[in-house]
Amino acid sequence: MGTVKATAGNIKKAASLIRAGGVVAFPTETVYGLGADGLNPEACARVFEIKGRPRFDPLILHECSAARARKLFSRVPGAALKLMNEFWPGPLTLVLPKAASVPDIVTAGLKTVAVRVPANRHALALIKAAGRPIAAPSANRFGRLSPTSAAHVGKQLGGGPDLILDGGKTRIGVESTIITFSGSRPVLLRPGGLPLEEIEKIAGPALKAGKAGKAPLAPGCLKKHYAPRARLEIITPGQAVKRGADRAYLAFSKRPAGKFAAVKVLSRTGDLREAAAALFGALHALENSGARVIYAERVPGHGLGRAIMDRLKRASAK
Ligand code: TXA
Ligand code: MG
Repeated sequence: MGTVKATAGNIKKAASLIRAGGVVAFPTETVYGLGADGLNPEACARVFEIKGRPRFDPLILHECSAARARKLFSRVPGAALKLMNEFWPGPLTLVLPKAASVPDIVTAGLKTVAVRVPANRHALALIKAAGRPIAAPSANRFGRLSPTSAAHVGKQLGGGPDLILDGGKTRIGVESTIITFSGSRPVLLRPGGLPLEEIEKIAGPALKAGKAGKAPLAPGCLKKHYAPRARLEIITPGQAVKRGADRAYLAFSKRPAGKFAAVKVLSRTGDLREAAAALFGALHALENSGARVIYAERVPGHGLGRAIMDRLKRASAK
Protein backbone atom coordinates (compact mmCIF):
# COMPACT_ATOMS: atom_id res chain seq x y z
CA MET A 1 0.00 0.00 0.00
CA GLY A 2 3.03 2.26 0.42
CA THR A 3 2.86 5.92 1.37
CA VAL A 4 -0.45 7.83 1.47
CA LYS A 5 -1.45 11.35 2.56
CA ALA A 6 -2.77 11.56 6.14
CA THR A 7 -6.37 12.31 5.10
CA ALA A 8 -9.31 11.44 7.37
CA GLY A 9 -10.08 8.41 5.17
CA ASN A 10 -6.52 7.11 5.24
CA ILE A 11 -6.24 7.65 9.00
CA LYS A 12 -9.37 5.51 9.38
CA LYS A 13 -7.79 2.82 7.20
CA ALA A 14 -4.58 3.02 9.25
CA ALA A 15 -6.56 2.64 12.50
CA SER A 16 -8.24 -0.54 11.17
CA LEU A 17 -4.83 -1.90 10.23
CA ILE A 18 -3.56 -1.19 13.77
CA ARG A 19 -6.62 -2.90 15.30
CA ALA A 20 -5.99 -5.93 13.06
CA GLY A 21 -2.39 -6.27 14.29
CA GLY A 22 -0.75 -4.30 11.47
CA VAL A 23 2.15 -1.84 11.55
CA VAL A 24 1.72 1.78 10.39
CA ALA A 25 4.30 4.58 10.18
CA PHE A 26 2.79 7.94 11.18
CA PRO A 27 3.89 11.53 11.84
CA THR A 28 4.26 13.02 15.30
CA GLU A 29 5.52 16.52 16.17
CA THR A 30 9.00 15.11 16.91
CA VAL A 31 9.86 12.37 14.37
CA TYR A 32 7.86 9.71 12.50
CA GLY A 33 6.88 6.67 14.56
CA LEU A 34 6.48 3.01 13.56
CA GLY A 35 3.23 2.12 15.28
CA ALA A 36 1.39 -1.02 16.36
CA ASP A 37 -1.34 -1.89 18.86
CA GLY A 38 0.46 -1.41 22.18
CA LEU A 39 -1.64 -4.06 23.86
CA ASN A 40 -0.98 -6.71 21.18
CA PRO A 41 2.36 -8.50 21.77
CA GLU A 42 2.55 -10.08 18.27
CA ALA A 43 1.95 -6.73 16.58
CA CYS A 44 4.69 -5.16 18.75
CA ALA A 45 7.04 -8.03 17.81
CA ARG A 46 6.64 -7.01 14.14
CA VAL A 47 7.77 -3.48 15.01
CA PHE A 48 11.02 -4.88 16.45
CA GLU A 49 11.51 -7.01 13.32
CA ILE A 50 10.88 -4.22 10.80
CA LYS A 51 13.28 -1.89 12.64
CA GLY A 52 15.91 -4.54 13.28
CA ARG A 53 15.73 -3.42 16.90
CA PRO A 54 17.04 -5.58 19.77
CA ARG A 55 14.33 -6.86 22.09
CA PHE A 56 16.03 -5.39 25.19
CA ASP A 57 15.11 -1.89 23.98
CA PRO A 58 11.58 -0.95 25.17
CA LEU A 59 8.96 1.00 23.18
CA ILE A 60 7.06 4.21 23.96
CA LEU A 61 3.25 4.01 24.22
CA HIS A 62 1.36 6.91 22.62
CA GLU A 63 -2.05 7.98 23.92
CA CYS A 64 -4.54 10.61 22.77
CA SER A 65 -5.18 12.24 26.16
CA ALA A 66 -3.46 12.62 29.52
CA ALA A 67 -6.44 10.92 31.22
CA ARG A 68 -6.00 7.79 29.08
CA ALA A 69 -2.21 7.89 29.30
CA ARG A 70 -2.35 7.86 33.11
CA LYS A 71 -4.15 4.51 33.05
CA LEU A 72 -1.00 2.91 31.64
CA PHE A 73 0.87 3.72 34.87
CA SER A 74 0.29 2.08 38.24
CA ARG A 75 1.72 5.00 40.25
CA VAL A 76 2.17 8.67 39.36
CA PRO A 77 4.22 10.99 41.62
CA GLY A 78 2.82 14.51 42.13
CA ALA A 79 5.65 16.13 40.18
CA ALA A 80 4.94 13.83 37.19
CA LEU A 81 1.28 14.86 37.30
CA LYS A 82 2.33 18.50 37.11
CA LEU A 83 4.48 17.76 34.06
CA MET A 84 1.58 15.95 32.31
CA ASN A 85 -0.77 18.87 32.96
CA GLU A 86 1.76 21.39 31.74
CA PHE A 87 3.28 19.67 28.69
CA TRP A 88 0.88 17.06 27.25
CA PRO A 89 0.19 16.89 24.36
CA GLY A 90 3.85 17.57 23.62
CA PRO A 91 7.39 16.24 23.21
CA LEU A 92 7.69 14.79 26.72
CA THR A 93 7.85 11.06 27.54
CA LEU A 94 7.37 9.93 31.14
CA VAL A 95 8.79 6.63 32.43
CA LEU A 96 6.86 5.39 35.49
CA PRO A 97 5.76 2.06 37.05
CA LYS A 98 3.61 0.20 34.53
CA ALA A 99 0.00 -0.93 34.83
CA ALA A 100 -0.68 -4.69 34.62
CA SER A 101 -2.33 -4.22 31.19
CA VAL A 102 0.97 -3.26 29.52
CA PRO A 103 2.59 -6.29 27.83
CA ASP A 104 6.18 -7.25 28.69
CA ILE A 105 7.35 -6.94 25.09
CA VAL A 106 6.58 -3.19 25.19
CA THR A 107 8.72 -2.61 28.28
CA ALA A 108 11.37 -5.25 27.44
CA GLY A 109 10.54 -6.87 30.74
CA LEU A 110 11.05 -3.69 32.81
CA LYS A 111 8.61 -2.77 35.58
CA THR A 112 8.31 0.74 34.13
CA VAL A 113 6.69 1.95 30.92
CA ALA A 114 7.39 4.99 28.72
CA VAL A 115 4.28 6.97 27.70
CA ARG A 116 3.57 10.21 25.87
CA VAL A 117 0.73 12.17 24.25
CA PRO A 118 2.00 13.55 20.92
CA ALA A 119 1.07 17.08 19.77
CA ASN A 120 0.23 16.20 16.18
CA ARG A 121 -3.36 16.14 14.95
CA HIS A 122 -2.83 13.16 12.63
CA ALA A 123 -1.23 11.11 15.40
CA LEU A 124 -4.00 12.01 17.85
CA ALA A 125 -6.72 11.16 15.30
CA LEU A 126 -5.04 7.81 14.58
CA ILE A 127 -4.74 6.84 18.25
CA LYS A 128 -8.33 7.91 18.91
CA ALA A 129 -9.67 5.93 15.95
CA ALA A 130 -7.59 2.87 16.88
CA GLY A 131 -9.06 3.06 20.39
CA ARG A 132 -5.90 1.79 22.08
CA PRO A 133 -2.41 3.00 22.91
CA ILE A 134 -0.02 2.84 19.97
CA ALA A 135 3.47 1.50 20.66
CA ALA A 136 5.92 3.33 18.44
CA PRO A 137 9.66 3.75 18.26
CA SER A 138 11.11 6.18 15.72
CA ALA A 139 10.49 4.80 12.21
CA ASN A 140 14.12 4.23 11.21
CA ARG A 141 16.38 1.18 11.00
CA PHE A 142 17.94 0.55 14.41
CA GLY A 143 20.87 2.89 15.14
CA ARG A 144 20.37 4.99 12.00
CA LEU A 145 19.16 8.57 11.34
CA SER A 146 15.68 9.38 12.64
CA PRO A 147 12.95 10.22 10.06
CA THR A 148 11.44 13.69 9.93
CA SER A 149 9.52 13.08 6.68
CA ALA A 150 7.55 10.21 5.14
CA ALA A 151 10.25 9.96 2.44
CA HIS A 152 12.89 9.28 5.15
CA VAL A 153 10.72 6.41 6.43
CA GLY A 154 10.27 4.93 2.94
CA LYS A 155 14.00 5.14 2.26
CA GLN A 156 14.97 3.12 5.35
CA LEU A 157 12.01 0.81 5.88
CA GLY A 158 10.64 0.43 2.32
CA GLY A 159 7.76 -2.01 2.26
CA GLY A 160 8.21 -3.05 5.91
CA PRO A 161 5.24 -1.14 7.37
CA ASP A 162 1.73 -2.01 6.09
CA LEU A 163 1.16 1.71 5.49
CA ILE A 164 3.10 4.99 5.77
CA LEU A 165 0.93 8.03 6.59
CA ASP A 166 2.44 11.20 5.12
CA GLY A 167 1.74 14.24 7.32
CA GLY A 168 4.56 16.38 5.97
CA LYS A 169 7.75 17.43 7.72
CA THR A 170 7.72 17.09 11.51
CA ARG A 171 7.62 20.38 13.41
CA ILE A 172 10.12 19.76 16.23
CA GLY A 173 12.50 17.40 14.48
CA VAL A 174 14.18 15.70 17.44
CA GLU A 175 12.69 12.97 19.65
CA SER A 176 10.81 13.65 22.87
CA THR A 177 12.59 14.44 26.12
CA ILE A 178 12.43 11.34 28.38
CA ILE A 179 12.01 11.90 32.13
CA THR A 180 11.70 9.41 34.97
CA PHE A 181 11.67 9.95 38.72
CA SER A 182 13.96 8.99 41.58
CA GLY A 183 11.57 9.55 44.48
CA SER A 184 10.21 13.03 43.73
CA ARG A 185 13.33 14.14 41.78
CA PRO A 186 13.06 14.18 37.98
CA VAL A 187 15.80 12.26 36.14
CA LEU A 188 16.72 13.11 32.54
CA LEU A 189 16.97 9.87 30.51
CA ARG A 190 17.20 11.53 27.07
CA PRO A 191 17.36 15.23 26.15
CA GLY A 192 14.83 16.02 23.43
CA GLY A 193 12.22 18.34 21.99
CA LEU A 194 11.14 19.82 25.33
CA PRO A 195 14.01 21.87 26.83
CA LEU A 196 15.17 20.63 30.24
CA GLU A 197 15.01 24.20 31.55
CA GLU A 198 11.20 24.20 31.06
CA ILE A 199 10.82 20.87 32.84
CA GLU A 200 12.93 22.06 35.78
CA LYS A 201 10.74 25.16 36.16
CA ILE A 202 7.80 22.86 36.94
CA ALA A 203 9.42 19.81 38.59
CA GLY A 204 12.61 21.20 40.17
CA PRO A 205 16.27 20.42 39.39
CA ALA A 206 16.80 17.19 37.45
CA LEU A 207 19.39 14.49 38.00
CA LYS A 208 21.31 13.22 34.97
CA ALA A 209 20.87 9.52 34.20
CA GLY A 210 23.97 7.51 35.02
CA LYS A 211 25.38 10.33 37.18
CA ALA A 212 22.80 9.78 39.91
CA GLY A 213 24.16 6.62 41.52
CA LYS A 214 21.40 4.13 41.00
CA ALA A 215 19.27 6.38 38.79
CA PRO A 216 17.87 4.34 35.89
CA LEU A 217 19.04 4.48 32.29
CA ALA A 218 17.14 4.28 29.00
CA PRO A 219 18.28 0.92 27.61
CA GLY A 220 18.07 2.31 24.06
CA CYS A 221 20.24 5.36 24.70
CA LEU A 222 23.29 3.60 23.32
CA LYS A 223 26.57 5.39 22.87
CA LYS A 224 26.40 4.83 19.09
CA HIS A 225 23.01 5.87 17.68
CA TYR A 226 21.28 8.27 15.25
CA ALA A 227 24.17 7.61 12.86
CA PRO A 228 24.51 8.53 9.19
CA ARG A 229 26.41 6.12 6.93
CA ALA A 230 29.31 8.57 6.69
CA ARG A 231 31.73 9.11 9.60
CA LEU A 232 30.62 12.14 11.59
CA GLU A 233 33.17 14.42 13.26
CA ILE A 234 32.17 17.18 15.68
CA ILE A 235 34.15 20.41 15.20
CA THR A 236 34.19 23.95 16.58
CA PRO A 237 32.79 26.64 14.23
CA GLY A 238 35.68 28.16 12.31
CA GLN A 239 37.98 25.18 12.94
CA ALA A 240 40.25 24.37 9.96
CA VAL A 241 39.10 21.17 8.22
CA LYS A 242 40.04 19.35 5.01
CA ARG A 243 37.89 20.36 2.04
CA GLY A 244 37.06 18.08 -0.86
CA ALA A 245 34.48 16.13 -2.82
CA ASP A 246 34.40 13.37 -0.18
CA ARG A 247 33.62 15.76 2.72
CA ALA A 248 30.31 17.30 3.75
CA TYR A 249 29.70 20.13 6.25
CA LEU A 250 26.91 20.73 8.74
CA ALA A 251 27.11 24.37 9.91
CA PHE A 252 25.16 25.84 12.80
CA SER A 253 24.58 29.36 11.43
CA LYS A 254 27.35 30.40 8.99
CA ARG A 255 28.17 28.74 5.65
CA PRO A 256 31.85 27.71 5.53
CA ALA A 257 34.12 28.83 2.68
CA GLY A 258 35.59 26.31 0.25
CA LYS A 259 34.48 23.24 -1.69
CA PHE A 260 32.54 20.41 -0.07
CA ALA A 261 30.40 17.60 -1.48
CA ALA A 262 27.46 19.26 0.29
CA VAL A 263 26.87 21.94 2.91
CA LYS A 264 23.85 22.47 5.17
CA VAL A 265 23.23 25.40 7.51
CA LEU A 266 20.87 24.58 10.41
CA SER A 267 19.72 28.12 11.22
CA ARG A 268 20.99 31.35 9.65
CA THR A 269 19.84 33.30 12.70
CA GLY A 270 21.40 30.82 15.17
CA ASP A 271 17.97 29.78 16.50
CA LEU A 272 18.23 26.43 18.33
CA ARG A 273 14.58 25.45 17.72
CA GLU A 274 14.96 26.03 14.00
CA ALA A 275 18.27 24.11 14.09
CA ALA A 276 16.69 21.09 15.84
CA ALA A 277 13.84 20.99 13.33
CA ALA A 278 16.37 20.98 10.46
CA LEU A 279 18.89 18.54 12.02
CA PHE A 280 17.87 15.10 10.73
CA GLY A 281 16.74 16.41 7.32
CA ALA A 282 20.18 18.00 6.88
CA LEU A 283 21.97 14.81 7.97
CA HIS A 284 19.87 12.70 5.57
CA ALA A 285 20.83 15.10 2.72
CA LEU A 286 24.54 15.09 3.66
CA GLU A 287 24.47 11.29 3.87
CA ASN A 288 22.95 11.19 0.36
CA SER A 289 25.77 13.40 -1.00
CA GLY A 290 27.99 10.31 -0.80
CA ALA A 291 30.60 12.05 1.37
CA ARG A 292 32.77 9.76 3.51
CA VAL A 293 33.13 12.32 6.29
CA ILE A 294 30.59 14.80 7.67
CA TYR A 295 31.94 17.68 9.77
CA ALA A 296 29.29 18.89 12.21
CA GLU A 297 29.68 22.14 14.13
CA ARG A 298 29.08 22.20 17.85
CA VAL A 299 25.98 24.19 18.93
CA PRO A 300 25.32 25.97 22.27
CA GLY A 301 24.38 23.37 24.90
CA HIS A 302 21.23 25.01 26.30
CA GLY A 303 17.55 24.70 25.30
CA LEU A 304 17.16 22.51 22.22
CA GLY A 305 20.95 22.61 21.81
CA ARG A 306 21.21 19.92 24.48
CA ALA A 307 19.22 17.47 22.30
CA ILE A 308 21.14 18.46 19.15
CA MET A 309 24.52 17.87 20.85
CA ASP A 310 23.28 14.54 22.30
CA ARG A 311 22.33 13.32 18.79
CA LEU A 312 25.60 14.58 17.23
CA LYS A 313 27.72 12.92 19.95
CA ARG A 314 25.97 9.58 19.49
CA ALA A 315 26.16 9.86 15.69
CA SER A 316 29.93 10.44 15.99
CA ALA A 317 30.59 7.63 18.51
CA LYS A 318 32.78 4.78 17.27
O1 TXA B 1 9.66 11.53 20.06
C1 TXA B 1 9.73 10.34 20.34
O2 TXA B 1 9.93 9.94 21.51
C2 TXA B 1 9.58 9.33 19.18
C3 TXA B 1 8.17 9.46 18.62
C4 TXA B 1 7.85 8.42 17.58
O3 TXA B 1 7.24 9.43 19.66
N1 TXA B 1 9.83 7.98 19.64
C5 TXA B 1 11.08 7.52 19.95
O4 TXA B 1 11.12 6.18 20.29
O5 TXA B 1 12.07 8.21 19.93
P1 TXA B 1 12.47 5.33 20.35
O6 TXA B 1 11.99 3.94 20.54
O7 TXA B 1 13.30 5.59 19.17
O8 TXA B 1 13.17 5.79 21.65
C6 TXA B 1 12.57 5.50 22.90
C7 TXA B 1 13.58 5.47 23.99
C8 TXA B 1 14.56 4.33 23.87
O9 TXA B 1 15.87 4.84 24.10
C9 TXA B 1 14.14 3.40 25.01
O10 TXA B 1 15.21 2.69 25.54
C10 TXA B 1 13.55 4.38 26.01
O11 TXA B 1 12.87 5.29 25.21
N2 TXA B 1 12.59 3.70 26.91
C11 TXA B 1 11.42 3.14 26.59
N3 TXA B 1 10.86 2.56 27.67
C12 TXA B 1 11.69 2.76 28.71
C13 TXA B 1 11.68 2.41 30.10
N4 TXA B 1 10.68 1.71 30.63
N5 TXA B 1 12.72 2.80 30.85
C14 TXA B 1 13.73 3.51 30.33
N6 TXA B 1 13.79 3.87 29.02
C15 TXA B 1 12.80 3.50 28.22
MG1 MG C 1 14.91 6.03 17.88
